[in-house]
Amino acid sequence: MIDINIERHKTAIKRNKVSRPVSLLLESNLLTQESSFFDYGCGHGQDLTILAKNGFSKIQGYDPYYRPDSQHIKSDIVNLGFVLNVIEKPNERSETLKTAYSLANKLLCVSVMTKIQQGYEGISLGDGVLSSRGTFQKYYEQEEIKNYLESLLDKDAIAIAPGIFFIFRYEQDKLNYLQSRYKRPVILDYTRIDPISKERTRVKVFKPKLEELIKESPFFEETISFLFNHGRLPTDLESSSYKELIREFKSKTKVKSLLLENIDQDRLEQIRQSRVTDLLVFFALRKFDRKGFPKQSDLPENMVLDIKEFLGTYSNCKREAENLLFSIGNQTVMQKSFRACNLGKQLPDAFYIHPSLINKLPAPIQVKVGIAKKLVGDIDECNLLKINKLKDKVSFLVYEDFDSIAHPALLYTLVMDIPKNNVKFWEFRQRENPPILHRKDTFIDEDYPLFDKFKKLTLKEEKFGLLGHNHIGTRLNWEKFLQEEGFIIKGHQLKKL
Ligand SMILES: C[S@@+](CC[C@H](N)C(=O)[O-])C[C@H]1O[C@@H](n2cnc3c(N)ncnc32)[C@H](O)[C@@H]1O
Repeated sequence: MIDINIERHKTAIKRNKVSRPVSLLLESNLLTQESSFFDYGCGHGQDLTILAKNGFSKIQGYDPYYRPDSQHIKSDIVNLGFVLNVIEKPNERSETLKTAYSLANKLLCVSVMTKIQQGYEGISLGDGVLSSRGTFQKYYEQEEIKNYLESLLDKDAIAIAPGIFFIFRYEQDKLNYLQSRYKRPVILDYTRIDPISKERTRVKVFKPKLEELIKESPFFEETISFLFNHGRLPTDLESSSYKELIREFKSKTKVKSLLLENIDQDRLEQIRQSRVTDLLVFFALRKFDRKGFPKQSDLPENMVLDIKEFLGTYSNCKREAENLLFSIGNQTVMQKSFRACNLGKQLPDAFYIHPSLINKLPAPIQVKVGIAKKLVGDIDECNLLKINKLKDKVSFLVYEDFDSIAHPALLYTLVMDIPKNNVKFWEFRQRENPPILHRKDTFIDEDYPLFDKFKKLTLKEEKFGLLGHNHIGTRLNWEKFLQEEGFIIKGHQLKKL
């Protein structure tokens, strides 16, 4: 196979926007104008051109065909984007990976084509395929590339998306990144939904005295915002506003009691419980890292403070995280967790939920989904998660536009088999009669902006007896049934024909 003239450079495409890996580096705030960046195997170099146009100046690239004379420059971030998969010689692949990593001061981003993207079968060549244009492509299995990167570099390869991985040189940087990724969305809604009345009435969480102070002083506002995000008050070092308040009131104790005693205690407890869950889920997942739990000295400072506040010591935190991890193998615990979910759709064998609600679920379910994500990363388009109740499997389902289509069709699914540590891809796009979704409101909660719209449609469909029939689960059957019953759906409106 080595004698065939493989025209690797022909695999490089021209881009008018940055490649997916570069866009992920930007989105995660790892690549900033301050970082130095080296694009190893940059092809036409359009990622570099676009970055340069956007004010990035410390950027360079090398490509054996397009920029053969460029120097290899050590940089904070190195991108090895879709290069390994075009190299037909396994030894050269490993050498290329090692060279790219040796240039990365902080982070190497590796992307490859995966079996999910495989469109063309081609003629078999070595461990890949030869295309009619004389190029080589190796389509990787997700677990194959993750294992390859980890064993060659002896580092955790963090799956960001299918085929895209971040490899941090330093443990601290890895933990900082993971922490930012798993952090719960910022809670700035100072109200809570009353759990007793099923109505969506929101209860004000501050007593009038504190409401006044918040209005009067931005320092109160900022300190409260910290409290709501962390479930604890800041240290003087973490918040200058808090420091300012202590100075103003001349007493830490006074400020503390003003803040803590004038807040709805249920809401505060709810936030604190969520923080404990966040920490335990985070550490249960760290147990799966190449070297297991991180050393305490590598933990970000704010995490050390969180552990102290909520779990006492790091040893206790690790013990509880371990218990949580083991609990997911216990059917009784899992069934109890599923029963405790007052969100999502329950079927006897599976639980379905919109991915945006994952961190509102009981900790064992979050861990299960987290383990699946460790292999596949985030699937941006995923709009439904299916957690198998009987087997250790989690599926990432991708439907057509969840927000704008009333009954979106299934496009594809990725099914993660946890004990086998592999992912299977199921394609539905070519199907004439794909499965579709009904009752979209059951997968989300009231905080979802389109909840009311979805709910109204479901209620109307129920009222006219359109739901609850086995045969309506696929598009053609549903459309035929609607027509027979004399209805049509426009947007999210059910109309009589
Ligand atoms: C699919 S292109 C990707 C280009 C660019 N990274 C992007 O994402 O647009 C693969 C590139 O890898 C380059 N390449 C092939 N063998 C390489 C090697 N051993 N080291 C570095 N780059 C290589 C090719 O010349 C080609 O431009």
